[in-house]
Amino acid sequence: MMDLLIPDKTHDESRQGEALMLKAEAAKNNGRKLYIESYGCAMNFSDSEIVASILAERGFETTPDYSVADVIFINTCSIRENAEQRVRNRLKEFTVAKVKNPGLVVGVLGCMAERLKSKFLEEEKLVDVVVGPDAYRDLPNLIDRVDDGQKAVNVLLSREETYADISPVRLNSNGINAFVSIMRGCDNMCSFCVVPFTRGRERSRDPKSIVAECQDLFDKGYREVTLLGQNVDSYKWKSKAEGSESDAISSVSEAETNFANLLEMVALISPDLRVRFSTSHPKDITDEVLYAINKYDNICNYIHLPVQSGNSRILDLMNRTYDREWYINRIDAIRRIIPDCAISTDVITGFCSETDEEHKDTVSMMDYVKYDFAYMFKYSERPGTLAAKRYADDIPEEVKQKRLTEIVAKQQEYSFYRMQARIGRVERVLIEGFSKKSDKDYCGRSDQNAMVIFPVGEGYKPGEYVNVLIERSTTATLIGRVV
Ligand code: SAH
Ligand code: SF4
Ligand code: F3S
Repeated sequence: MMDLLIPDKTHDESRQGEALMLKAEAAKNNGRKLYIESYGCAMNFSDSEIVASILAERGFETTPDYSVADVIFINTCSIRENAEQRVRNRLKEFTVAKVKNPGLVVGVLGCMAERLKSKFLEEEKLVDVVVGPDAYRDLPNLIDRVDDGQKAVNVLLSREETYADISPVRLNSNGINAFVSIMRGCDNMCSFCVVPFTRGRERSRDPKSIVAECQDLFDKGYREVTLLGQNVDSYKWKSKAEGSESDAISSVSEAETNFANLLEMVALISPDLRVRFSTSHPKDITDEVLYAINKYDNICNYIHLPVQSGNSRILDLMNRTYDREWYINRIDAIRRIIPDCAISTDVITGFCSETDEEHKDTVSMMDYVKYDFAYMFKYSERPGTLAAKRYADDIPEEVKQKRLTEIVAKQQEYSFYRMQARIGRVERVLIEGFSKKSDKDYCGRSDQNAMVIFPVGEGYKPGEYVNVLIERSTTATLIGRVV
């Protein structure tokens, strides 16, 4: 309301002032080069594009070569001990570059920055900036401080920040698929997981800004968007719609957008825009979402539904808030509502106190679902999490490894089984580019997210859809020809 009292002129003036300041800053940084490297989940890769955009406005250009950079950022992941180790190793290489070029700014962004905060500056003396995932708007200011010879830290988490108004600069893009963040943070407290601590409270982004970003991508030639959140099924946006003036008191009605609604809104942009999403949570995925997927051909028939464990006692200790029966019920619902839907998962082996019998329940879950794909991990205790506080990390490394090896082998079988089942079928493929191995072949993904390889030919090119008859497969790839 206060805003209404400020005369328009002041608004204009302050906007002009802002624009001038931006211009001056952009001029100051003109030509400075930013190198940014990302680790961890898609969310981090998507955040790096927001960072690039914030700094592009201030005159920074991104470079794919860190040896010519003036600013090096590493966007980090804390999910497992070895993820952090990788980052530390890489940081050593960057700090060697810093010794050669003392003017170089080295910054740590993302989840490790949030987890370790200013401790990072004590541990890694050559790091100049530490910035958490909700503080990226402050980056220009933090870089200024480093330019003035100080160290800079901002790890404040926010309940509102969604970077909704920032149009990401697409990094390493093929111009065909793009990630679009629809929410940030996570309110689930899975006992093993560091994400709620590094990314803060869950908040959803205004659907209008999501649809506008997807529409813009489509207009620029992109043909696939992946909507990102730690738990997309709990996406929720309440918008206050103004009613008529005569009905002053009840004039504010609240319209709510849930994930199923959002999927539909994005799907309606164009039948030629494929819509994917990640990650779904078994406790929250509704039949309404499944019906939405089934209703639109361009919402891909592929769901990533992390199970973590097939045993109800372990799921309880993990605080996943579903049990084995509930998970199976969700799998059955997917099979019933979406014929021909691929399903992938995440599994953790050797969680605190897991017995051999309980591990077998995970194996039998894999037998039940026959996942198309799985990401499998050994439990890695993370400081500060509920599990670290409450339970002993008591499964010996060899046992964790043995269980992991067993499920990896099992998954290989099922991946191959799922791939083989596609032989003789015709898949609609969005061409992404040349295959990794040969520029005589194109590659692209099927609706079910399988990688498909087929010979380059006349009349089709990357960014277009083709029908491919599948003739053979490996465990990870379908091979065929355009029909
Ligand atoms: N939001 C997603 C998962 C994000 S983290 C979800 O709820 O499913 C990605 C995966 O990393 C998790 O699904 C889990 O399998 C794994 N993971 C997370 N914390 C881990 C830990 N402490 N040790 C081993 N694996 C872990
Ligand atoms: Fe972590 Fe659980 Fe949130 Fe996923 S849902 S990010 S596993 S706390
Ligand atoms: Fe890693 Fe943070 Fe993503 S811990 S998995 S980068 S949310």
